[in-house]
Parts: sequence; structure tokens; C-alpha cells
Amino acid sequence: MLPPTRGTSNPAGWVHQSVAPTNAPGSVAATASVNDGTSDTTRIRSTFPSGRWVDHAGAGLASAAQDIDNCRMSPNRPVEPPTVRPMSDYGVSPVEALTRVRGFADAMVRRRTVRDFSARPVPDGVLEHALRAAASAPSGANRQPWRFVVVTDPELKRRLRVAAEAEERVFYEQRAPQEWLSALAPLGTDASKPFLEIAPAVIVVFEVHRGPRSPRPYYVKESVGIAVGLLLAALHQAGLATLTHTPSPMRFLNELLDRPVEERGNLIIPVGYPADGATVPDISRKPLDEVVVWR
Ligand SMILES: Cc1cc2nc3c(=O)[nH]c(=O)nc-3n(C[C@H](O)[C@H](O)[C@H](O)COP(=O)(O)O)c2cc1C
Repeated sequence: MLPPTRGTSNPAGWVHQSVAPTNAPGSVAATASVNDGTSDTTRIRSTFPSGRWVDHAGAGLASAAQDIDNCRMSPNRPVEPPTVRPMSDYGVSPVEALTRVRGFADAMVRRRTVRDFSARPVPDGVLEHALRAAASAPSGANRQPWRFVVVTDPELKRRLRVAAEAEERVFYEQRAPQEWLSALAPLGTDASKPFLEIAPAVIVVFEVHRGPRSPRPYYVKESVGIAVGLLLAALHQAGLATLTHTPSPMRFLNELLDRPVEERGNLIIPVGYPADGATVPDISRKPLDEVVVWR
């Protein structure tokens, strides 16, 4: 592995580390650039084969060096051909397609983030099927880099709340820049997180990175994000409310839920029914023509 040495800062504040190109077929010349202090984003540029930038948010310089090393050590070798099987039926008539997609969109636009839960239990089987939908998500190289920890034990939920509120107090009182606090103001959020204790179930989503039990994943955040999207959609279809909660940092989750170090907290999702009289912020979505471009 390349030593995680530091080079000289360029004017933009990035630190470069270069690997000299080799002439061997399939070899990779790479440059890692690490933002020096203000952010932990790491970038790696392979000049072969695609020359594109790959962002490794939060990975650090050592990880960048490891990735460069992997590129050098793993030229394009022949691989086993894949085994294949026939696809399942995708036959939906145009009329039925429109009916289905309209119905789905009509349901999804009614989803709202709920922060005021009742203790009413989730019907049996609903969480299992929603998780089945989530775990069906596509993922980089099919690594399925997710772990869903379902917390229903009242004492564990209480400890989750206590730990999350401790992080959130520091966030709201010290760490959050004014710009972020202003962005959150219309939502009325603060450091108090009673929903973590009151909601009947709390699904804690972890990203699974490389470790003794897990091979190197690819596009972890994208993959986990898609899985969570399916989870929220499935739960909403079942009439359940959710909240995507992100106390930061989330390292406390590993100890609390007894998860190994290669698993990193991604989201905490209380699931249940809204409390009687629950309200939501009166916010709206951008019009479709502002977020969609047809070419
Ligand atoms: C990645 C992500 C992180 C979020 N973190 C929080 C959070 O920590 N606390 C919270 O109350 N809401 C959180 N939210 C919810 C957003 O505030 C909410 O989705 C947004 O205001 C739109 O409202 P809606 O979901 O009701 O349409 C988060 C949403 C996402 C997608």
C-alpha cells in the first residue's frame, strides 16, 4: 500500500499525492487529492481507463492511497463469465402502466416526514415486507452494502434517544453554522427527539464497508440511499409514517447496537403512526419543470 504521505497544497487547498504511471497494460496512473483539514472528502483520479474523478467522502488519505494501490495491483484481468437466467415478466400494457405509475405517484406525494408519533404498534409482518423491498434495491456490484437494525426494545429505544439528543444538543448549540440553522428553521426541529422513544419501531440503517466479514463495496451511499428510498416508499404504502433522522456524528450507534466498526450509521428511521393531532411543516416541493430536464 502507498504510504499516506502528504504533498504540497495547491492554491485551492488540496493536497496531492501522485503515483507515477506504468507502461504495463491495464495499469493505472492515479492522483489522490485530499482537502487539507476543512473537509474529509478524498478524491482519486484514475488516468486510465476512464480518467474520471471518484469521490470517497469521508474516506481519508490512507483509504485513497489504498485505492490507488488497488488500481495498480489489479489490472484488467480476465474474469469468469457470469451465469444468467431468464428475466421475470415485465409485461404491463401501456394503459396499465399509466394507471400504476399515476397511482404510485399520487400515493408518494402524500408522504410527509412525521416528527410526532403515537405508540400504536405496527401491524405484524409490515416491517418484514418493507425491509424485503428495501433489501431488493440495486447496489454497486451487487454488494448490498446495507444493514437494517430494527429496534423495538423500549429500553434500547430510550438509550438511543438519550445518545442522539446528546449529539444533537452539541449540534444545535455549538456545531451547526448559522446558515444550516436558518435552513432548518422552517421545520421547527431542535435537539429534542422524543420520537426515538415513542415510535414503536426504529430502523437504524448502517452502511457496510470493507471488513473481515464484508468485501469491498462500491457506491455505498448511492446504494444505501436507493434501499432507504424503497423502504420509505413501502412503509408509506402500508400507511405508516417515517422520519429520516441524522444525528451527527453517528458513531455512538455502533456501541449502542453492538455493530462492528466496518458498519457506519447512515440514518435512523422511526416508524409508526402519527400522534393524534400531529402537524407537519407547511413546506412545498419545487415544481416539476424546475427539477426535470427533457432532452
Ligand atoms: C438525508 C436526510 C436527512 C434528514 N435528517 C433529518 C433530521 O435529522 N431530523 C429531522 O427532523 N428531519 C430530517 N430529515 C427530513 C427532512 O427535513 C424532510 O424530508 C424535508 O424537510 C422534506 O419534508 P417532507 O419529508 O415532510 O416532505 C432528513 C431527510 C433526509 C433525506
